Amino acid sequence: MAPWLLLLSLLGLLPGASPAPPHRAADARAREAAYPELLGPSRFALEMYNRGRAAGTRAALRAVRGRVRRAGEGSLYSLKATLEEPPCNDPTVCQLPVSKKTLLCSFEVLDELGKHMLLRRDCGPVDTKVTDDRNETLSSVLPLLNKDPLPQDFSVKMASIFKEFVTTYNRTYGTQEEAQWRMSVFSNNMVRAQKIQALDRGTAQYGITKFSDLTEEEFRTIYLNPLLKENRNKMMHLAKSIGDHAPPEWDWRTKGAVTNVKNQGMCGSCWAFSVTGNVEGQWFLKQGDLLSLSEQELLDCDKVDKACLGGLPSNAYLAIKNLGGLETEDDYSYSGHLQTCSFSAKKAKVYINDSVELSQNEQKLAAWLAKKGPISVAINAFGMQFYRRGISHPLRPLCSPWLIDHAVLLVGYGNREFH
Ligand SMILES: *[C@@H]1O[C@H](CO)[C@@H](O)[C@H](O)[C@H]1NC(C)=O
Ligand SMILES: *[C@@H]1O[C@H](CO)[C@@H](O)[C@H](O)[C@H]1NC(C)=O
Ligand SMILES: *[C@@H]1O[C@H](CO)[C@@H](O)[C@H](O)[C@H]1NC(C)=O
Repeated sequence: MAPWLLLLSLLGLLPGASPAPPHRAADARAREAAYPELLGPSRFALEMYNRGRAAGTRAALRAVRGRVRRAGEGSLYSLKATLEEPPCNDPTVCQLPVSKKTLLCSFEVLDELGKHMLLRRDCGPVDTKVTDDRNETLSSVLPLLNKDPLPQDFSVKMASIFKEFVTTYNRTYGTQEEAQWRMSVFSNNMVRAQKIQALDRGTAQYGITKFSDLTEEEFRTIYLNPLLKENRNKMMHLAKSIGDHAPPEWDWRTKGAVTNVKNQGMCGSCWAFSVTGNVEGQWFLKQGDLLSLSEQELLDCDKVDKACLGGLPSNAYLAIKNLGGLETEDDYSYSGHLQTCSFSAKKAKVYINDSVELSQNEQKLAAWLAKKGPISVAINAFGMQFYRRGISHPLRPLCSPWLIDHAVLLVGYGNREFH
């Protein structure tokens, strides 16, 4: 278990973990806070919750109750708040295909001399309807409040884990405010990663990654590609089936058909990487030469796709064909943002004559892959923000095939028992 997982486990954040033992210093005793006292911290928590959300999707505070205790120079508020969110009708934004309306949130807000800092944010949908009678709402919140609040040194430990993250991933923030906001996002993400971990049915490990200080919305906007779910492209014709006989496992990486892992940077260009990976594999298998090919050429010169804002592999294949081929990574290198097209047909090292769409049957895909080479595919990237290693196997309702949003290169398959 990673040290921070252990920490969360000790803090009682793991689902099913027992609460921390109730030994507390005298000044750590929490007291019920009066409503007016909660206004400042709860407005701040709400503001943080709504940060980055578009108008019309922001939540409103319906009820709040909380405890306060002294923490160093300031006060630490443990809030239970009921938020109301407008129904989500954009499936690229909603993670689950349900409309979330009422949320129950736990916030930890540190107030030091009037300056607020969000240390914890944990929200989940509730079934109970919020009524206008504030007290009725509070009574449904009350049982949760009787749990032990987080130990006082939670923020100190979280701050030190965050500091380590900042060093490891070489992060810099423009202002102190930004750094504090990133820490609250990070802290919230650790809890999210923990929940995804608890629900995973494979061997995957989720935890701190270089994306750990981004909100879910930021991660999706910067790296993912909502265009993928829009259509199966009509331009491509279906491949002629080659049957469904497949070896029990296969890995093109060990057979020289795959270049090293590339980094798309802060750009939603997964579609281009997925396609070049496929063409690299095809060229290797047909011509015996593994060349690293240019994604930047596709970002700049494929005018149907949208560079860092996403694209469709089917368009990219057509663009490669129409342009007259792909240059290599060395000749047309990656910048991760849209530039003017500087493709030169004379420099193209690889061409394609056509592309085909494959069956969605996994057995047939396996047979095709083993016989013909790595394949460009699209997945639902649920949990990938915190994915570190292992076989990811999310619960199906969390990972709907209708919400594919990330193009990747499929290089092999196998049986869990082999690994
Ligand atoms: C809510 O409950 C408190 C005490 O529990 C009481 O003082 C207050 O008047 C109640 N408010 C409403 C709107 O019923
Ligand atoms: C860290 O970031 C700075 C500024 O962006 C850069 O100059 C430096 O090379 C980076 N160091 C590492 C180890 O990535
Ligand atoms: C495939 O495309 C290349 C380059 O565009 C061309 O030279 C070649 O003749 C084509 N092959 C076939 C079989 O169409």
